[in-house]
Amino acid sequence: MKTSFGPQKILFPMPTSLVVTGTMEKANIVTIAWVTLLTSSPPTLGVSIGTKGYSGNEILKNKNFTVNIASVDKMVEADFCGITSGKEVDKFEKTGFTKIESKYIPSPIIKECPLNFECKLVDSSIVGTTNHFIGEILEVYMDTDKLKDSGKYGSFDIEAMNPLIYIGGAREYRKIGKKVGDAYQIGRSLK
Ligand SMILES: Cc1cc2nc3c(=O)[nH]c(=O)nc-3n(C[C@H](O)[C@H](O)[C@H](O)COP(=O)(O)O)c2cc1C
Repeated sequence: MKTSFGPQKILFPMPTSLVVTGTMEKANIVTIAWVTLLTSSPPTLGVSIGTKGYSGNEILKNKNFTVNIASVDKMVEADFCGITSGKEVDKFEKTGFTKIESKYIPSPIIKECPLNFECKLVDSSIVGTTNHFIGEILEVYMDTDKLKDSGKYGSFDIEAMNPLIYIGGAREYRKIGKKVGDAYQIGRSLK
């Protein structure tokens, strides 16, 4: 049996992500969970950001942003950036997050987040009250001390990264669980 709920905006799990736009001198942080990889070549990320907040217009103006994946130990700061607006608060000052200069764009990345993306805005549209931004990924960073196998790409310690998981609908934060299998392999047993 299934219980139906009609059209709802629910999905889980989602990565709690901090989107930064601005410059090293003045930048804002917005917490979002609606983020996803969109294309491989070029690699792009899609982020959905409400039209009513501060960040949407800033991204349209600046045409670049960074996406920074929050870790469990920064849960309070991440939540704060999702319940306050850059219209009223300097979120870098309030949270103590540290800006690091990006390589290709003016928007900084956040030092305290273990995974960071530099994105150039390549497309946008508004659906209802939400901006859909497509950012081409120009650079990706991970904390060096959380890499395994001499820093080989794709080989990182996910437990050390400790990403902050958001459960849409229940409005809960959770942490990542144990590995249960190898992707692209385990299904071969049914071939
Ligand atoms: C866990 C969490 C997830 C959120 N996800 C989104 C999201 O995906 N898109 C969005 O527009 N707002 C999202 N929000 C709400 C914004 O972060 C919030 O409206 C914020 O105050 C806007 O900040 P700004 O005015 O500085 O841009 C989320 C908030 C929280 C706490």
